[in-house]
Amino acid sequence: MPSPDEFDLDSGPDDRIEVIDGDITRTRVDAIVNAANETLLGGGGVDGVIHRAAGPDLLRECETLGGCETGQAKITRGYRLPARHVIHTVGPVWRGGAHGEAELLAACYRNSLELATREGLKTIAFPAISCGIYAYPIDQAARIAVREVREFLARDATLSRVYLVCYGQEIYDAYREAIASS
Ligand code: AR6
Repeated sequence: MPSPDEFDLDSGPDDRIEVIDGDITRTRVDAIVNAANETLLGGGGVDGVIHRAAGPDLLRECETLGGCETGQAKITRGYRLPARHVIHTVGPVWRGGAHGEAELLAACYRNSLELATREGLKTIAFPAISCGIYAYPIDQAARIAVREVREFLARDATLSRVYLVCYGQEIYDAYREAIASS
């Protein structure tokens, strides 16, 4: 179980989805997802927090990966994190919505989930990819996240729990709305 507080939020048709509050670097799961950039060499936002918490060996492993295209995902160890692995994915920068942003964001969730199951992982925690520095509208992003996770879980039994980690009330409200309305 992850350590941040869990919301009492009915996740709808699939009870393997859980919305939790707090700092993703404190979650004790098989993998946390990093909202990275194409270099995979660190940055601000959750990426910076993850690198600081994991320690310098994470950057050393990332340097061997050759970057990552937007929508794709790559895996490393978790080093000093309580999570065993970090799945690095690169969300789209919001440029108004007509530049394939929705499909690319959906691909981040799908490819991260597929990578986790290929590695035999059971639990994974996502931040709200693209919803910070990359400025994706939070309501739209939350709907995509909930839809992709639900669709994936409906066809794959490997994962026992998918945590959607909220960092603040606005994200929590968006997930609550997305879960209730779909
Ligand atoms: N735990 C959980 N969620 C967090 C945490 C945390 N500790 N810290 C921030 N968030 P962002 P992006 C939330 O900006 O928009 C970096 O420089 C935050 O509130 O981290 O995909 C990368 O290197 C927001 O909801 O990622 C890229 O250059 C969400 O995480 C760029 O930022 C994502 O915000 C990626 O931008």
